[in-house]
Amino acid sequence: MSVGGAKNAVLPIMAACILNDGENTISNVPDLADVRTMMELLETLGARCEYADGELLVDSRTIDRYKAPYDLVKTMRASVLVLGPLVARFKKAEVSLPGGCAIGERPIDQHIKGLRILGTSVQLEDGYVSAVAKKLEGTTVPFDLSTVTGTENIMLLASVCEGETVILNAACEPEVVDLANALNLMGAKIEGAGTDIITITGVSSLGPLKGYSIMPDRIEAGTLMIAGALNESDLLIRNCRFEHLGALAGKLLQTGTEIEKNGNSIRVRGTGKIKSIDFSTLPYPGFPTDMQAQMMILMCVADGMSVITENIFPQRFMHTAELRRMGADIKLVGNSAVVRGVREMRGAPIMASDLRASASLVLAGLCGAGRTEVSRIYHLDRGYEKLDEKLQSVGASIWREQE
Ligand code: EPZ
Repeated sequence: MSVGGAKNAVLPIMAACILNDGENTISNVPDLADVRTMMELLETLGARCEYADGELLVDSRTIDRYKAPYDLVKTMRASVLVLGPLVARFKKAEVSLPGGCAIGERPIDQHIKGLRILGTSVQLEDGYVSAVAKKLEGTTVPFDLSTVTGTENIMLLASVCEGETVILNAACEPEVVDLANALNLMGAKIEGAGTDIITITGVSSLGPLKGYSIMPDRIEAGTLMIAGALNESDLLIRNCRFEHLGALAGKLLQTGTEIEKNGNSIRVRGTGKIKSIDFSTLPYPGFPTDMQAQMMILMCVADGMSVITENIFPQRFMHTAELRRMGADIKLVGNSAVVRGVREMRGAPIMASDLRASASLVLAGLCGAGRTEVSRIYHLDRGYEKLDEKLQSVGASIWREQE
């Protein structure tokens, strides 16, 4: 099975196209609902987008609007990533507040703090963030916490702000690095991406991106690795970057799963005996919150008890109620889940609630005895391209049906 381009890298890079006036071409772009939503949002702003076979064109020359409407933003929180670029292009922006989602309240106070520090006045009116920039000037932006899209929004705006901007307590995720690489190819001057201090020297204008290839999706890779750890499977996962998967690989090894790195492929073998382990989600390079639900499946059928602590989105446990329907033994205590492994889970009709939970329910269906029906898999299609077909290709009995 081969891993596709990273959803959480392509979305900010698409937003970055607002910063230039040209025909941007991006490759290794996954065919995901969220990519289509971002294309629709850019077209709402006046851009022309074309997508075929992993190749995306964003012609930003015709962008002439600065308002991101609620009906689009409410379906995808990552829409907030157009805020910084619109302020950079128009010196003003109106972006709907993203609102919450199944994994919890999704505040953007740090985004707003950064915009204000760079010289933007920001009001919250009628559910919209209204930003007007009088004089944009680079300076130090100290974040109170590690925020991926907050870091990305400020990096996007600062890249064309006069002067030098230093982001302190920046997010270190690989997707932030991919965005910085793309911006530097457009002519930006960004250093330190991947560390918690990012320095951006503003330039007067940026050129179009030509043929940038999106990094592999580390969360899709991790999801497939867990599929390999289940049911004594033996999977070869191609086109992934092992260096992005250290925290997950370390935890999988502790469960007794065998992992073999081979160039840009990873071979994962389940031994049939899964040891229970504890883990806590943390900002990168810690264990990713986007892998918490998937790793919980392994713990549901492990020998013993595990404590899973969710430090990023404390309510990100919507999947546990569905897993209990399959016979999982999970108790929620604050922002932790105490999981006692059972000999086997049993198939049942279950319902997806959010993107990563839906992937975990598919994994549960793979290891549950009998038939499992996962409904509302539109959540899955937001962030996984043909996951059912990829799993089918390695022998899983999985198929789509009309609801
Ligand atoms: C990004 O979301 C990812 N999305 C999420 O992936 C991922 O789960 C998350 O980072 C954490 O790694 C994209 O990149 C498009 P944060 P983001 O800002 O940027 C709090 C998926 O499944 N916070 O890093 O929205 C926040 O509440 C998605 O692909 C504030 O308090 O997450 C959370 O507790 C789900 N104020 C923590 O910081 C702010 O202004 C980390 O959030 C911003 C964030």
